[in-house]
Amino acid sequence: MISHDAIVGQGKAIMTGLRDWKPWFAAYDDPASPLASRLAVVRDGISRALRETAPGPIRILSLCAGEGRDVIPVVAAHPRRADVTARLVEFDPEIADVARRAVAEAGLADAFDVVTGDAADPARFAGFGPADLLLLCGIFGNISDADIAHTVANAAGLTARHGTVIWTRHRREPNLVPSIHGWFAEAGFTSLWESDPALPESIYVAGHRQDRDPAPLRGDAKLFTFIK
Ligand SMILES: C[S@@+](CC[C@H](N)C(=O)[O-])C[C@H]1O[C@@H](n2cnc3c(N)ncnc32)[C@H](O)[C@@H]1O
Repeated sequence: MISHDAIVGQGKAIMTGLRDWKPWFAAYDDPASPLASRLAVVRDGISRALRETAPGPIRILSLCAGEGRDVIPVVAAHPRRADVTARLVEFDPEIADVARRAVAEAGLADAFDVVTGDAADPARFAGFGPADLLLLCGIFGNISDADIAHTVANAAGLTARHGTVIWTRHRREPNLVPSIHGWFAEAGFTSLWESDPALPESIYVAGHRQDRDPAPLRGDAKLFTFIK
């Protein structure tokens, strides 16, 4: 039987025109799920980026951050923990609250700011400064190809020189991953690593390093619109 919460969620989604993402996170709790495998790769990439960032402060920006299951536990357990300041931007207030609770439980409330709002709107991260680590996870499978290209071009304006971007996308046909790599190269990023091709095609994760100083944001101020 469908739960009361699910019905309320569907009602809100209809009113706002946005999908209710809350049930999506349950797949993380099944260690055999492709999403759990993806999470492990993203966490490894975050840990590596923290390890490889030059000594000093580390700024992390996560767009469409969800429950923060990737970045919160990794920072909490990492030797560079004390260097980190993070901003997580999540549209759904209930999902943002889950992230806030996880931040508090990890003892990171002084360093992590969970912002409820539209991550496509640069006003949500204005003043935060170029990120040493930018997380674009769970976005590129839900926006148009043109918006992916636009977001990648603008990632150059959001990332500090030598900063890392971690992104995800499925590899189902038509497989856009090669095009996304090309857009990152055009934006001044070098490919650092990618997930094991033997993983299910619903999963792909890659890390890139920004080799230029951050550029001004380009074109339309809004980065993307979720269409799924
Ligand atoms: C596929 S989930 C990914 C969550 C997280 N990044 C992860 O990988 O676990 C997409 C998330 O984006 C959020 N979202 C959708 N549109 C958004 C927007 N315009 N601004 C901020 N968050 C948004 C959804 O509520 C959902 O939590």
